[in-house]
Amino acid sequence: MKSFPSTFLWGGALAANQVEGAYREEGKGLSTSDVQPQGIFGPIVEREPGSSSIKDIAIDFYHRYPEDIKLFAEMGFSCLRVSIAWTRIFPNGDDPQPNEAGLAFYDRLFDELAAHRITPLVTLSHYEMPWSLVKQYGGWGNRQVIDLFERYARTVFARYQHKVKRWLTFNEINMSLHAPMTGVGLPDGSSKSEVYQAIHHQLVASALAVNACHEIIPDAQIGNMLLGGLMYPLTCKPDDVFKTLQENRSWQFFGDVQCRGSYPGYMLRFFRDNGIRLDITDADRQALKSTVDFISFSYYMTGCVTADEAHSQRARSNILSMVPNPHLASSEWGWQIDPVGLRTLLNVLWDRYQKPLFIVENGLGAKDEPDAAGMVQDDYRISYLNDHLVQVREAIDDGVEVLGYTSWGPIDLVSASKAELSKRYGFIYVDRDDSGNGSLARSRKKSFYWYKEVISTNGASLKQ
Ligand code: BG6
Repeated sequence: MKSFPSTFLWGGALAANQVEGAYREEGKGLSTSDVQPQGIFGPIVEREPGSSSIKDIAIDFYHRYPEDIKLFAEMGFSCLRVSIAWTRIFPNGDDPQPNEAGLAFYDRLFDELAAHRITPLVTLSHYEMPWSLVKQYGGWGNRQVIDLFERYARTVFARYQHKVKRWLTFNEINMSLHAPMTGVGLPDGSSKSEVYQAIHHQLVASALAVNACHEIIPDAQIGNMLLGGLMYPLTCKPDDVFKTLQENRSWQFFGDVQCRGSYPGYMLRFFRDNGIRLDITDADRQALKSTVDFISFSYYMTGCVTADEAHSQRARSNILSMVPNPHLASSEWGWQIDPVGLRTLLNVLWDRYQKPLFIVENGLGAKDEPDAAGMVQDDYRISYLNDHLVQVREAIDDGVEVLGYTSWGPIDLVSASKAELSKRYGFIYVDRDDSGNGSLARSRKKSFYWYKEVISTNGASLKQ
């Protein structure tokens, strides 16, 4: 009988900059996210006194986390993915000492999770870095940032070694190709050479963090995090098929380095063909050999690829742009919905790496409206999540090792792409709109009760 393993971790995923708020509290420094008030693709706005952003308060998780964690526990979560804001620990990135108030905040957060028997899964860097490192150092383009990141990673590993046993390095590390400021702290318009050099530095930093984690917390596991951007050929024309292979390799390259410990041959050719000469030292090559214990990824949609210039019309997700699949429906934000693609992706990654997989983001952003009784009847979300989880179970039956599933945004939060609160992913509704109006009160949606049942039955309640 198809089922989820008894050890399967169920939960949700958050990112500090999309939930915490408290953006200058207790010594926190400005991050790249703080200077992008309109989201990843909005302009950089240097913070002046009086300027504000929806993210300054976000959903006020910084102060309300006990209430939120209680609700997650009520749903039966065994895992919560959170990220640490680097700027709470090292406000400028290169401060001589870590900020004790920031360290203490995450102590309290992890203690609260432990009190509810929820395992933390912690991302070291989720779409933000100290703004000062961009201004003073030039972001990840500067090799010195590797050492500063390693110092930050070692600081949090040492501090939380008894509280956190599962870690992730960089959120969606492959997204820097599409959003260089958010990914590697480089301005739009940076050359391919600059972006790949910064990515190289980040890959080395990721490997050094893996090494440090193994050294400081020998019983911990640390994974990478990929934006799972699976592409299909638009037709079976051989040129479409080969172009699709290349497009998939453009993100698999990151996984190849992080799982296999060196640059794949196809990338060396890509660099040669594009005149990209990277500065890769012997020490870098040695560092890259520290490979991850498991692979985590986000999955929202698939897209198509064609070699035919006539099909130039592209659909856009938050990060990627792709040729739309004529066989799939789309969300209100134009993201194409493809549950079977998740099974395919799990199998592709398993076949490629033979390392355990963790789905750390998946979900449906929608405009929820509470009914007269104040309840959001989000059957559309239930159906989306149900259909994806059914495919996860199929993949497990295919023999893929899947550690767990944390849906994106178990509580409504600020969206990454456009800093919207009206794009809701949660099982828990938060009373706040795009202009910042609302009481921030939390309430359970219909999907809250649905997910609770899925977890309590370990997936047996899913509808095939
Ligand atoms: C992923 C990110 O790309 O997608 C999250 O890791 C993000 O941070 C999520 O929130 C959904 O995207 P958006 O733009 O709808 O928030």
